[in-house]
Amino acid sequence: MVTSISASFPHLILPKGQIKDGLYSALRDAILDGRLKASTKLPSSRALAEMMSISRNSVLAAIERLLDEGYLFTKPSSGTYVAEVVPDQLIHIQESSEKTPINHHHALNINPNMDALLSSWREQACSSQKKRMFHVGVGCIDLFPHQLWGKLLTRAWRQSYYQLGQFHDPRGYLPLRQAICEYVQSTRGLNCNEQQIIIVNGTQQAIHLTAYALLQANDEVCLDEPGYDAAFNIFRSFGAQVNLIESDEEGMQISKITDYYSKSKLVYTAPSHQFPLGETLSLARRFALLDWANSQEKWIFEDDYNSEFRYGTHPIQALQGLDQQQRVIYSGTFTKMMFPEFRLGFMVVPEALIETFSAAKYYTDVRSSYLEQVALALFIQQGHYARHVRKVRKACYERQQALIKAINEHLSDIVEVQPTDSGIHLIGWLKGTWSEQDFINHCSALDLAIQPLSRYCQITTTKAAVLIGYAAHQPEEIIENIKELALILKK
Ligand SMILES: Cc1ncc(COP(=O)(O)O)c(C=O)c1O
Repeated sequence: MVTSISASFPHLILPKGQIKDGLYSALRDAILDGRLKASTKLPSSRALAEMMSISRNSVLAAIERLLDEGYLFTKPSSGTYVAEVVPDQLIHIQESSEKTPINHHHALNINPNMDALLSSWREQACSSQKKRMFHVGVGCIDLFPHQLWGKLLTRAWRQSYYQLGQFHDPRGYLPLRQAICEYVQSTRGLNCNEQQIIIVNGTQQAIHLTAYALLQANDEVCLDEPGYDAAFNIFRSFGAQVNLIESDEEGMQISKITDYYSKSKLVYTAPSHQFPLGETLSLARRFALLDWANSQEKWIFEDDYNSEFRYGTHPIQALQGLDQQQRVIYSGTFTKMMFPEFRLGFMVVPEALIETFSAAKYYTDVRSSYLEQVALALFIQQGHYARHVRKVRKACYERQQALIKAINEHLSDIVEVQPTDSGIHLIGWLKGTWSEQDFINHCSALDLAIQPLSRYCQITTTKAAVLIGYAAHQPEEIIENIKELALILKK
């Protein structure tokens, strides 16, 4: 049966200049709302073109697209028909299966170690709706030199003409690895060569690759408490047993590792800026940790994520630079200094692990994307990165001071903050009977992204505190929002 196509969508008016798209959409809508039923044969392209007074080429283009997308199919020597199952139905089926509740996922045969990731992922997905202010972990995005970056990307793309297809090393673009190597030697006191550098898609991938390369189920790993939840979840998802090590004013309590958890294969630490409390690991504890790792042949993962956000003093030398025996796997990231969507970071791995980590990277995603690596190499080589770091440090310090002043003036009866000489968030200790939940509920009313400290605690704590990110906002904005929050909290 040949359908009268004009009867199927009598009000079809194809907009001028968009005939192909208009016809495509009209046919697709008619299929989706059932005016064109499954297995219906379409008129020939010539007949359709005549009926609609449009060119046959436009009809052919629209039909071809619908064939490619699976709305239509052809039967040889017969014609073109509406498909039995259209892609939107498939998408709908997939969407509804994604909504399977978490406690049903055993029935789906999912790796039970994914529990560690899934519960936290769901919590995070709920809380990460767009909020206005005080994001934790976001740097000074307003200071990023967008135009310059655009020029460097264009230049990188132009020069790529000669380089595409020649980019084979899973460790990344060599000039970038060389530029990073020089930079971290001079600014962080690292002891390395460019062969040890592996470009990754941020610290999260560095942790992932480390777990992939080193851990077997039930291996023990030590981690700070409170600490970086992503590291905890990733290690658990590899079946590792995670030993939680508390911090005090000298940073992670290394004696707990050497006395009680000496069987651990790996220690994750952020010695220059503990997350989320911000302490620095004392020199004595750095040496104690290195001594233990050397004598017991253990690995240390050094997360140096915030080391460039340091105000006042010169950055403290990285643990990797003190390591004489190559037991430290170092990780640095650009996501804070550049912008959160910029997913590049790097690892500096011991020489003995270069091959293992190259293979781990290769079998994860072959290598990180080329274009941004080339632009970043130019950005560092031409001195823009160092300049940007200086500018960000100065602004961040002013923003931190504005936050401290605003809290002391308007919220001092509820929150106590201590200045720190590093980082991009402050810890606010809650006073009196304020619970984290009460405080966060008030923040949500104002769309503030302030987070409870308990989010980063695996062990229940009685000390109530919140994390307030300040790097992404101008001082005036910070002051206004703290005033507004004070009014709401004191109502
Ligand atoms: C402790 C810690 N390390 C590293 C990072 C950065 O991770 P990435 O480089 O994957 O963005 C974060 C992010 O907020 C963090 O909190």
